[in-house]
Amino acid sequence: MSDRRVLVNLRGLLTPDPARTWAVDRIPDAVLALEGDRVAWMGPAADLPVAWADAPQVDGGGAWVTPGFVDPHTHLLFGGNRSGEFNRRLQGATYQEIAAEGGGIRETVRATRGATVEELVAVGETRLRAFRERGVVHLECKTGYGLELESESRLTAAYAELQRRGWSLDVTLLPAHDLAPEFRGDAEANARAVAEDWLPELVRRHPGVGRFCDVFVETGVYTADQGRRVLEAGKRLGLIPRVHADELSWTGGAELAAELGAASADHLMFCSDAGMKAMAAADVTPVLLPGTTLFLGMRDWAPARKMIEAGCRVALATDFNPGSCPCLDPLTILRLGCLQLRMTFEEAFTALTLHPARSLRRDDLGHLHPGARAEVLLWDVEDMLELVYWVGEAYRPRFLS
Ligand code: NIG
Ligand code: FE
Repeated sequence: MSDRRVLVNLRGLLTPDPARTWAVDRIPDAVLALEGDRVAWMGPAADLPVAWADAPQVDGGGAWVTPGFVDPHTHLLFGGNRSGEFNRRLQGATYQEIAAEGGGIRETVRATRGATVEELVAVGETRLRAFRERGVVHLECKTGYGLELESESRLTAAYAELQRRGWSLDVTLLPAHDLAPEFRGDAEANARAVAEDWLPELVRRHPGVGRFCDVFVETGVYTADQGRRVLEAGKRLGLIPRVHADELSWTGGAELAAELGAASADHLMFCSDAGMKAMAAADVTPVLLPGTTLFLGMRDWAPARKMIEAGCRVALATDFNPGSCPCLDPLTILRLGCLQLRMTFEEAFTALTLHPARSLRRDDLGHLHPGARAEVLLWDVEDMLELVYWVGEAYRPRFLS
């Protein structure tokens, strides 16, 4: 049968085990048996079942094989960039000061509102290619730079078109990413418009495109109460909540995520101990974004170790966006996970594969156990730890053709 093949000549195979929270299988001299686009068997070459003895072989070239990375938090589509604002920050202005003056997210909103669906799709494909080259095989993508119905609808349409072209991505509706200029600071009215008008209309216009909804709960943006109303409205429409939580200050975002049974709470630099416990109990995935902490020049790294000890399945993501983290490189995030969040290599690797896939309800991604999608990466290194150790190297994986 032509859709059966065995990947041979591997230095080894490294994969999280979906049955055990933090366990990583490291199998030297492994082979990987594939049937169509699925993993059928993996293990030491010497143990390959006889049924596979005659299957066509693919030469792995002595590489390590791993599952592809899954990025559970990106703001993929936006117009323009914020290099001017970045320069102001280098001269001392803070992210919050720039936002309070009407810059920040709202500057990107101006550029995004002026973009057509075709322009958004074109820029999206360029960025998706860059993610893929670096080993990201699936990602979560948010709307949120429209802040009004028609622009949010164009962003959703652009994501639908990218999916139609074959890109593997999950869409999160985030019309509550900031306060829209039209509401002149009236967060209450803005949250009501999102919950009662925009989310229902986005779901009506683009059925099946959005899987998740999100809200920026932060001092000066939406309160936890307003966030709750937005996410409950999303839930009534079949959208699973995710939350931008406790990013710049403690706002009870993690607690809110747990209360609502959200798939994830993201950022969490200022998460409380109670919030960590609540997330562990409610099986909310904390999605940590150390690239953002780095790029904003903050000293408070998210407490990954405490979260792991509290029983949370921590995930890592890029947060790719033009303001707080213009970085789409999973290796940078893996390195920051190890070097700043003090995760072991195996933990950081699991946090960029299995745990994000689970938070996106994609059980067939993020590992290479039987049944997994055959989204595999081949790395020409002697040991996978080199990806972190040679800290400035721009490693690129090879893919199965
Ligand atoms: O995840 N916190 C809100 N959203 C983004 C920043 C977006 C921007 O600055 O453009 C974040 O950090
Ligand atoms: Fe974000």
